[in-house]
Amino acid sequence: MNASADRPRILVCKPIPSAGLDPLRETCDVDVWPGPLAMSRPELLVRAAGAAGILAVGDRVDEELLSAAGPGLRGIAQFGVGYDNVDVAACTRRGIPAGNTPGVLSDTTAEVAWSLLMAAARRITEAERYVRAGRWGKGDMNDLMGVDVSGATLGIVGLGRIGQSMARLSQGFRMTVLYTQRHRADPAVEAELQASFVSFEELLARADVVSVHAPLTPETRHLIDAAALARMKPGAILVNSSRGGLVDQEALLAALDNGRLRAAALDVTDPEPLPADHPLVGRDDVVVIPHIGSNTLATRVRMGRMCADNLLAALRGDRMPWLIDPAVYS
Ligand code: DGY
Repeated sequence: MNASADRPRILVCKPIPSAGLDPLRETCDVDVWPGPLAMSRPELLVRAAGAAGILAVGDRVDEELLSAAGPGLRGIAQFGVGYDNVDVAACTRRGIPAGNTPGVLSDTTAEVAWSLLMAAARRITEAERYVRAGRWGKGDMNDLMGVDVSGATLGIVGLGRIGQSMARLSQGFRMTVLYTQRHRADPAVEAELQASFVSFEELLARADVVSVHAPLTPETRHLIDAAALARMKPGAILVNSSRGGLVDQEALLAALDNGRLRAAALDVTDPEPLPADHPLVGRDDVVVIPHIGSNTLATRVRMGRMCADNLLAALRGDRMPWLIDPAVYS
């Protein structure tokens, strides 16, 4: 399993489009885990041994994995913009550059957040199940009553690239857009998006739909907790397409049970995959989809190429083009 000097070995932790693998295959031995299930941790540690590069797809990259890979490891590429699975400080301490794939999936992920918003507000997935169950024509006029999205207030938590794209999509629906984050956005961005900066508390109190687009960090874990949910407007909808850990799911279930929230729509959960018998699954007031935010072929091809570019740069000893922590080179 050792990388030879002329054909370094790259471990790819899930199958990705060949557009990401082909450039690597020109100069490297590429070991692709065939999936569809993620590699078990013990398997990952064994396969990592001797790798010169690891292409992670949400797999935990930490001291244990870096040690298992050994001294020949020269780069980590995360297939995704979020990198909460990567212990970047551990990589930097070892002088191993880590990169991600920012920018190319913003619209794609915002489209999924938007689909979730619409599905929850207009009860689309529930209505589809209704037809499958042969209930069309058998229900009464109050069945499947939704809420209007046009003209409603959208609260965006985290106005980064994906949050901005979400704000842009809302313009066609004449929504009032509020946003919150640590620092106020550039005035030009606010003007373009017609988005108003408010406190977290004000956003929760005013938004008909709260859509979460913040990275998962120790500070943002359970940002949407019982206290935040209690501040939300009665009957509001929560959308999360960022990371499951941002929402306290026990508190979310309680807020749905006590009728505070109308619905929740989640592309991300904690854990992932979410077991089919989890209490969030099977409820009519919850839409759960399996983390497909970036899942279009064009976007996944772009992400794959960026990962390849990151790893190939690291193998050449060049700076990674989409580097997470510049301190690794200092
Ligand atoms: C990301 O890029 O972080 C997405 O969650 C991947 O789907």
